[in-house]
Amino acid sequence: MMDFEEPARQALSPAHWGYLATGVDDDDTLGANLAGFKHIQLRPRHLIDVSKPNLRTEVFGVTWESPVFLCPVGAQKAFHPEGEVAVARAARAQKTTQILSTVTSVSVEDVAAALGTPPWYQLYMPATWDATQRMVSRVEAAGCSVLVWTIDLLGGRNTETLTRFRRADARDCSPCHPSGPGSIASKPMFRGIAGEINPPEATWDYVDRLRKLTRMKLILKGIETAEDAKLCLKHGVDGILVSNHGGRATETLRSTIESLPEVVDSVGGRIPVFVDGGFRRGTDVYKALALGAKAVGVGRPYIYGLAAFGQEGVERVLEILRAELQLVMRQCGTPSLAQITRASIQMNNPKS
Ligand SMILES: Cc1cc2nc3c(=O)[nH]c(=O)nc-3n(C[C@H](O)[C@H](O)[C@H](O)COP(=O)(O)O)c2cc1C
Repeated sequence: MMDFEEPARQALSPAHWGYLATGVDDDDTLGANLAGFKHIQLRPRHLIDVSKPNLRTEVFGVTWESPVFLCPVGAQKAFHPEGEVAVARAARAQKTTQILSTVTSVSVEDVAAALGTPPWYQLYMPATWDATQRMVSRVEAAGCSVLVWTIDLLGGRNTETLTRFRRADARDCSPCHPSGPGSIASKPMFRGIAGEINPPEATWDYVDRLRKLTRMKLILKGIETAEDAKLCLKHGVDGILVSNHGGRATETLRSTIESLPEVVDSVGGRIPVFVDGGFRRGTDVYKALALGAKAVGVGRPYIYGLAAFGQEGVERVLEILRAELQLVMRQCGTPSLAQITRASIQMNNPKS
């Protein structure tokens, strides 16, 4: 799958490549996500009938063909002229759930048409409650069944490597970015809404308000500790996405695969736990499933496919990941997802 990285880099300008590939500060959390998987090994069982591997799982009463979904990634027309529409067509062809970013370059209504069903919608909470209400009711009217509130950027971030890539880009950005690179005011989901997001004063009270505001299922994206996972249960959240924003929010965090077990343990199966961050191989997905994740999200990999080959590239990335997962399920004697348990892996302390 990572063979798509280099053609994507070649297809993109330095500034857009920088937006895609980088993290924050020294990019250590970004690296930690990838390295985390190296501390877990597999414990295969043999002489089990693996002739019919079954990757199906049920999420909020809906059957998924595979436990892999597409993470919200903003501004996808920066990567390919068809942006989120190409991704929606690929997701439709590959029967995969797409989570649409608040800072999408195509409206939720147009993505729903291309996908053949409303996507899950990722919320960056607008700065005022009035704007939040308007955005949420628009998304609900578009038919979205799941709202994924990203809570890991409320404190701000320091994107140094991206800034260096931008400086290295000699092109005139103003035709596409009249209000300056990174401005979200003109994006389609901000029609009639001020382009300011992520109120730093937000607390668990905001979760309660959001909970009351919508009938959509509510997932919090960016939970990393048992303490916050327990608060999710207390505040009626329907699902947790363990994430550190692909290393793009806070520096020197644990990898998400290291954060996952304490979150899974503290919710005790009462709500589904999803995870994203650094998943590049079928074995990575397998390890998260063994630790109790319901499903796994990918961000950069499918955007590599999009940037290099459009819809076809996204489809191929999904096919490769699914084929790799299927292979490791057979190799380890766990032909269905229910058979993948903590006994399927061994976790090694990175310091030992
Ligand atoms: C270019 C880029 C843009 C992103 N935009 C968003 C976004 O708009 N909203 C959001 O919640 N997460 C966003 N993310 C984070 C992803 O949803 C996801 O958490 C992360 O990419 C997973 O890590 P991975 O890229 O290693 O697979 C973005 C990630 C990237 C790489």
